[in-house]
Amino acid sequence: MPYNLEWTKAILQTAQELKSPVILGVSEGAGKYMTGYKTIVGMVNGMMEELNITVPVALHLDHGSYEGCLKCIEAGFSSVMFDGSHYPIAENVEKTSELVKSCHEKGMSIEAEVGAIGGEEDGVVGMGECADPNECKAIADLGVDFLAAGIGNIHGKYPANWPGLSFETLAAVKEKVGELPLVLHGGTGIPADQIKKAISLGVSKINVNTECQIAFAEATRKYIEEGKDLQGKGFDPRKLLAPGTEAIKATVKEKMELFGSVGKAE
Ligand code: 13P
Repeated sequence: MPYNLEWTKAILQTAQELKSPVILGVSEGAGKYMTGYKTIVGMVNGMMEELNITVPVALHLDHGSYEGCLKCIEAGFSSVMFDGSHYPIAENVEKTSELVKSCHEKGMSIEAEVGAIGGEEDGVVGMGECADPNECKAIADLGVDFLAAGIGNIHGKYPANWPGLSFETLAAVKEKVGELPLVLHGGTGIPADQIKKAISLGVSKINVNTECQIAFAEATRKYIEEGKDLQGKGFDPRKLLAPGTEAIKATVKEKMELFGSVGKAE
């Protein structure tokens, strides 16, 4: 999630250092916070050039509305997710199909969603459903590049009584959609063994956000609680935001190692 310059820099530098491809996922809320999609495109493109980033980087809209996707296609993103999971399947199919055409005309990739991912994302609370494999097939057949299918995963922290991912659903979806890469949202807090099993069953994109937010907040709090902002020029935002930035780098590194993307861009 490139919420700001520090996050973007931390993610790009870590990807380059580890020779890992990376997807920068931007929610509509983050887009608004950053003053608009064009700001993000400008910052990311500029930073890639100035930092000599040579690993593959996708700039991707996360959980986009139909209108949000159109804006990102216009603004110069390289990928969008159209989240039509809250529409009846016929409407999800229709809207996804139109956006597949618009994206592919521009050489962009498009992710679609079936079966709402639970938890809270920018104020929208989903139900944490398991996707219907036949509906997944209907969306896959539209030519999307990857598919987010709900398999009991939710955004944010998992409750203590969470039963875990539904691998039966994942296997049934995979059976229907074949080679199509699957997306696992709500990467924060899923145990490593479940992540590895999901990858072995066809998941090739994993979204992680909350874990980076928590790491950033914890490191920043520590800096303030230790009174470092009161020492010398410790109040300079470049100093104040440095521990959080390092914490994001460490989190991203840990995830790239776990997901197996290290060295894939060599
Ligand atoms: P987490 O915030 O739970 O890591 O989920 C991120 C996500 O799936 C964004 O779409």
